[in-house]
Amino acid sequence: MTEPIIRVADIAWGRLRSPDLDKQEEFLTRFGMIRADRTDDKLFMRGTGSSHHIHVTEKGDEGFISLAFRAQSEDDLHKLAKEAESASDVEDIDEPGGGKRVRLTEPNGYTIEVVHGVEEVAEIPVERPIYNFGNIDKYARGGELWRHEKGPAHVMRIGHGVLGTPKMEECTAWIRHHIGLIPSDEVYVEDDKDKIIASFNRIDAGKDFVDHHVFLYVSNEKAGLNHISFEVPDFDDVMMGHEHLRDTGDYEHVWGIGRHVLGSQIYDYWKDPWGRVHEHWADSDTLNKDYGTRYVPAEEGLNSQWGEPAPMEFIHHVSP
Ligand SMILES: [Fe+2]
Repeated sequence: MTEPIIRVADIAWGRLRSPDLDKQEEFLTRFGMIRADRTDDKLFMRGTGSSHHIHVTEKGDEGFISLAFRAQSEDDLHKLAKEAESASDVEDIDEPGGGKRVRLTEPNGYTIEVVHGVEEVAEIPVERPIYNFGNIDKYARGGELWRHEKGPAHVMRIGHGVLGTPKMEECTAWIRHHIGLIPSDEVYVEDDKDKIIASFNRIDAGKDFVDHHVFLYVSNEKAGLNHISFEVPDFDDVMMGHEHLRDTGDYEHVWGIGRHVLGSQIYDYWKDPWGRVHEHWADSDTLNKDYGTRYVPAEEGLNSQWGEPAPMEFIHHVSP
């Protein structure tokens, strides 16, 4: 592989367009996010972590606009602006949280924002009971009862984004070259390692451990957003978040609860009011450079360690 133009540090947010910001905010609040800011035509939602926001909705006809990634330095923005063919100039982000940005256009025509210097905010402490798991520490919660109020999950941060594409090879080469992601697991079909249908990519942080994946392309006849995904603290939070969304009766459940094979997260997938899939997860595998890249047949990779295998409706889903 040739040297990438830059290596990003993390994913920053997903940006959607929706005709009704009240309805979007209601869904995201019930999903476990917190309003960071709202203007006449944009909604910014945060998690409990230090990012100013992790989800942006612009008012308008429903659509997927972009995924944003955080650059390691402002110099990297200038490098991208200079070297990437599709790049905008380095621009000020005229939105709450500020910062600077370069906009790239990936091969399907969607925008990849690469940002730096967006405001950091104080973390919101989330008190969780400690597990008395017998194989870790049977008495970790010695004398304390496990009690937790019912309510939404506690979204901490954005974890990854997934785009469907009819141009797998071109797209995976593009994203790796432009923002320095590296492949973790390549999922293939028909016993042919050249027939990749899903490409799990992670941040390249050298010896430091990072989430198993921060971005995927999955093969699809149409391009669009397959899902965006958010980390919650633990297994119970996934379960209680699930019950909270279920009990509203307002949203369509897509897949879960189960534990993935690739990434190993405990997952749960829901559609927002316009069918965009949002995932909760807890407990990801973390890898560093030493893991390299593995090739996995689809029947193994897209299965679950427990829970149902991915439904066809999810595998083929894109929101344009
Ligand atoms: Fe996911």
